[in-house]
Amino acid sequence: MGARQARRADMGRAAGTCYNGLLMDDTTPVASALELLLGDFDREEFFRDYWEKRSFFMHHNDPARFSHLLNRERFMKYTVYHCGHLRANFFDSRNWSAEVELEPSQAEKVYESGMTVGASVLDAEGELKAFLDSFRAGVYSAASPHFNAYYSPDGKGYIVHFDTHPVWLMQVEGRKHWRIGREPVIRNPQFNIVFPPDREVLRLPWITMEKPDLENDEKFVSVTLDPGDVIYMPPGTWHQARAEGYSLALTLAQSRVTAIDLLVTVLQHSLPSPEFKVLAERVGGQQAARRDGGHLAPDVEAVLAERLEIFKQLVSRIEMPNMRAAWNQVSRLSAKDMNYMGAKEVAAALKNR
Ligand SMILES: [Fe+2]
Repeated sequence: MGARQARRADMGRAAGTCYNGLLMDDTTPVASALELLLGDFDREEFFRDYWEKRSFFMHHNDPARFSHLLNRERFMKYTVYHCGHLRANFFDSRNWSAEVELEPSQAEKVYESGMTVGASVLDAEGELKAFLDSFRAGVYSAASPHFNAYYSPDGKGYIVHFDTHPVWLMQVEGRKHWRIGREPVIRNPQFNIVFPPDREVLRLPWITMEKPDLENDEKFVSVTLDPGDVIYMPPGTWHQARAEGYSLALTLAQSRVTAIDLLVTVLQHSLPSPEFKVLAERVGGQQAARRDGGHLAPDVEAVLAERLEIFKQLVSRIEMPNMRAAWNQVSRLSAKDMNYMGAKEVAAALKNR
């Protein structure tokens, strides 16, 4: 145990609460979320060279680093009942990753039968809330961060895929082997993509992707996480995981808030107008008309031209104070609001705040 870890252990005993957590009494210096994630690694260097650019690996050699946040018993007895979404992940007969929704009472049996139990958007309370609040104080974003937790038996995990949001992987107990892209394969992906294991090329309407070559050491890194270890990866980075023995891991994720999200929020809530509702109406659907060269059907052309004018006029009314207000409005939405509400519910939630 290094001097830094010893100091933290002493702090935990002095506070009489958690070992290295954030909820200590006022007189005790506490480790911030970024300190727990990055250790002594220079923050400026991280945000300059890695954030949204490259994957980052940190072996902290501190097995109890995240034990105040979760353990196996708490996961099974509490977390599965206090999350937004609970599911079983497994490999199907074609070796694709598959998942089914779970009732909390099924979690223990599902794990024993050899499947991963995944809990998404854990309730933000206690030590988890303290960590998230501290993270938000250190990483400026309108989107609420949230935790997911994965409890996997030996050899289980997830086939190669990427996510739309940045991910921090925090190993809590057990071990997990990762194969991870050194850099994102795509910037700002709009969808999570799981690469089908039996294909060489994946053709989607908006992108064609080649099968990631996980054996290519120039592009991929092999990392085994022990308890207390951390990986950060930008959105759009291929990754694949397998538990060794067993694995209990937390991931810290953060949805994306774009300028378009804020513009729409302003138009829906700060400057609501009947014209904006017109923009959400369906275009087309009439009886098929003959098309003239590169043009659309004449009535569709006319409707789109009219709506484009409406949009231009509405956008010209938006000023920076509206954008700031929208940022603050969105900031107050919880991760559960952002992840599990439909558009109507989000609109209602925004109205009430
Ligand atoms: Fe992932």
